[in-house]
Amino acid sequence: MGYKIAVVGATGNVGSEVLKILDERKFPADEVVALASARSVGKEVSYGECNLKVQNLDTFDFKGTDIVFSAAGSDVSKAFVPRAAKHAVVIDKTSLFRMDPDVPLVVPEVNPEAIDGYSKRNIIAVPNCSTIQMVVALKPLHDYAKIKRVVVATYQSVSGTGKAAMDELFNQTKGVFTNNTPVPDIYPKQIAFNVIPHIDSFMEDGMTKEEWKMVVETKKILDPKIKMCASCVRVPVFIGHSEMINVEFEREITADEARAILRKAPGVTVIDTDNELTYATPAETQGDDDVYVSRIREDVSVENGLNFWCVADNLRKGAALNAVQIAEHLIKNQLKKAKAA
Ligand SMILES: NC(=O)c1ccc[n+]([C@@H]2O[C@H](COP(=O)([O-])OP(=O)(O)OC[C@H]3O[C@@H](n4cnc5c(N)ncnc54)[C@H](OP(=O)(O)O)[C@@H]3O)[C@@H](O)[C@H]2O)c1
Repeated sequence: MGYKIAVVGATGNVGSEVLKILDERKFPADEVVALASARSVGKEVSYGECNLKVQNLDTFDFKGTDIVFSAAGSDVSKAFVPRAAKHAVVIDKTSLFRMDPDVPLVVPEVNPEAIDGYSKRNIIAVPNCSTIQMVVALKPLHDYAKIKRVVVATYQSVSGTGKAAMDELFNQTKGVFTNNTPVPDIYPKQIAFNVIPHIDSFMEDGMTKEEWKMVVETKKILDPKIKMCASCVRVPVFIGHSEMINVEFEREITADEARAILRKAPGVTVIDTDNELTYATPAETQGDDDVYVSRIREDVSVENGLNFWCVADNLRKGAALNAVQIAEHLIKNQLKKAKAA
């Protein structure tokens, strides 16, 4: 009763993390296929104790495949997902299908019931990394006191842009110490020892696409009535996104109540108030599965306001782990029955 799995983008940041997590969680796979571009054919990627030879996505036949994890960019998804979705359920990490009304956009701790809608297109979309960690923390608070408005500022790591961006931060940092002027390539400006208030392209109203994604995705996953404003900033951190989140609720919620609710919430670890250094940072939470919440405090400048700090590993909960959790739900509630039948 095992499944045949294909990982598209298996040589990249997210794809390699998917392979790692499938092994760690003992995912019921009979066969795992690693796919990437023609450039990588023949290269090997790790899957537990095995090395998988990378195959060419362009010529791969998806017949017989049950689940495809897709993480190779929107253009690549546009080209192959319709072909793959004729045979398999595609769990897509790119932004391409997220706002398609016939494609569920899922964070399993928040809206697992949405997975039921996958069969319209045989595609399930995984939200943006910054959206995922935020909605995991917001959901239990919304259930308790109903959120009216969210204002979030992000501090996003370079791994969110892919492997080449991590190399750019590394090389620019080294360059600064060896008197080689950093030359921006992946990013519009120097990223080493700098911060850049610009992620994805600018839209007509001055928002960036990343900021827009956080707003519309939160509405689709959590509640369309929530008002929201996001400011997204790239920082010279390799792995781990951080967010400072300000929330206005319909009814009163104290910092103590929020702390107690979040301590019980699935996928959340609260690190707060034991002493002055009790807060999470990206360097400390890299490689972990949970969304970390710290510095929970009341915002007295508005009625029923709270502020908190939220950190997560963007390659795990922000991408690969969320995708694998979706596949686990899918198997448990939908595919298992179909396979047995
Ligand atoms: N990193 C994150 O935190 C994060 C979070 C959420 C969503 N995502 C999304 O996930 C996707 C992948 O991100 P990443 O960070 O893993 O990028 P990455 O490290 O740059 O890896 C890109 C992967 O895509 C493959 N690829 C590129 N062009 C291809 C083509 N024409 N055909 C087949 N495979 C191709 C690459 O294969 P080769 O090695 O053969 O070039 C590589 O395996 C992006 O859409 C990104 O927006 C990333």
